[in-house]
Amino acid sequence: MSNVPQHLRVPKGLAGVSVTDTKISTSEADGTLLYRGYAISDLAANAGFEETAFLVLNGSFPGKEELEAFTQELRKRAPVQDKVFGIMRELGKTAHPIDALRTAVSSLGSTDREETIDGKQFSLESKMSVLAANCYRVPRGERPTEPDHEQKFSDNLLHMLTKKERSDYERWVFERVLIFYMEHDMNASTFTVRVVASTLADPYAAATAGLAALKGPLHGGANEEAMKMLLEIGEPSKAAGYVERALREGKKVIGFGHRVYKDFDPRARLCKEYLKEILAKRGEDDRLYRLCDAIENEMWERKRIPPNLDYYAAPIFYLLGIEVPLYTPIFAASRTFGWMAHYNEQVEDNKLIRPDATYVGPSDLKYAPVERR
Ligand code: ACO
Repeated sequence: MSNVPQHLRVPKGLAGVSVTDTKISTSEADGTLLYRGYAISDLAANAGFEETAFLVLNGSFPGKEELEAFTQELRKRAPVQDKVFGIMRELGKTAHPIDALRTAVSSLGSTDREETIDGKQFSLESKMSVLAANCYRVPRGERPTEPDHEQKFSDNLLHMLTKKERSDYERWVFERVLIFYMEHDMNASTFTVRVVASTLADPYAAATAGLAALKGPLHGGANEEAMKMLLEIGEPSKAAGYVERALREGKKVIGFGHRVYKDFDPRARLCKEYLKEILAKRGEDDRLYRLCDAIENEMWERKRIPPNLDYYAAPIFYLLGIEVPLYTPIFAASRTFGWMAHYNEQVEDNKLIRPDATYVGPSDLKYAPVERR
């Protein structure tokens, strides 16, 4: 073993390791988040979903005609073949929506007839939202909801998800949350997408892998788990006891902590304001807000760990009337645009992502037939 070259060792979980240059987005421990150079607070205050998606994908904001063309490309590709819904339906009502979504996206790899990489990406970006809106309903035997081509992306998705009318402010907030979910540099699912892109597999394969990584509760699955936790705790007065018990038992409090943000997650801060404002505008009891705030204070007092986007996106989705198992699929519907931006950046300057591992197992074992083991 003496001829084995020395490997460059990296920290566990690749923490703090820069694996590539990127121009798409950056986040910093102090709560900075930029998409293509624009601060997330600026985008949250001023931008729409479609123009932000264009920005993330292309590097600059679109002009009026470019935006119109981009929106039309998306709308044109929204219809999903019955065959794909049929595959979702076959999974049956026990299927978790994110699994149904991943299976449907995988099937697009053989059912979609797009010829170009651009066409495949538009198709995925557009169909992902239709499939996300239907991945709870269709496996339960209900008819798929069709997209409405007159509506903008976020209104259309919200309407497909809930079939309810919402106030202008609530629809504006939903669009903000989608913008926050769109992109976040080298998170686990984006890295996964880049690994698959580096093999030159098609965008459907990359998105399917991205969805698999997104599902986990340490990543995108956290918004569903955070909402379940909030519903379980129920009362602000029970927050301290819950956090104390969870930490004593060595459990993670889902919706808290982040690999990058150590002081605060800027997206969570904004969502917290929106949550408060939705309740105020509705004139409803603010118990849900007080519960979130109480857990946040407790986590900060005990561990100095701030909430992340998933923690405050979850109660917003809840107030908008969205079923809890659809929270991660919504995340996916938006993140697909970020994934495709990274897919393109990867293939434009590609090198197969194939790291090494340091073998620490034995090396002198000899085969023995089964009867002698
Ligand atoms: N609850 C309790 N303790 C926590 C939490 C948490 N949510 N998050 C981190 N910690 C603690 C760890 O136990 C560890 O403590 P120790 O040093 O005493 O062992 C320390 O903080 C560092 O935590 P790591 O998990 O090693 O840090 P890492 O950078 O790997 O973690 C992660 C990031 C995975 C997000 C983590 O904070 C976590 O598991 N959070 C809960 C899941 C979650 O909300 N995920 C959503 C992420 S955001 C997104 O995907 C949009």
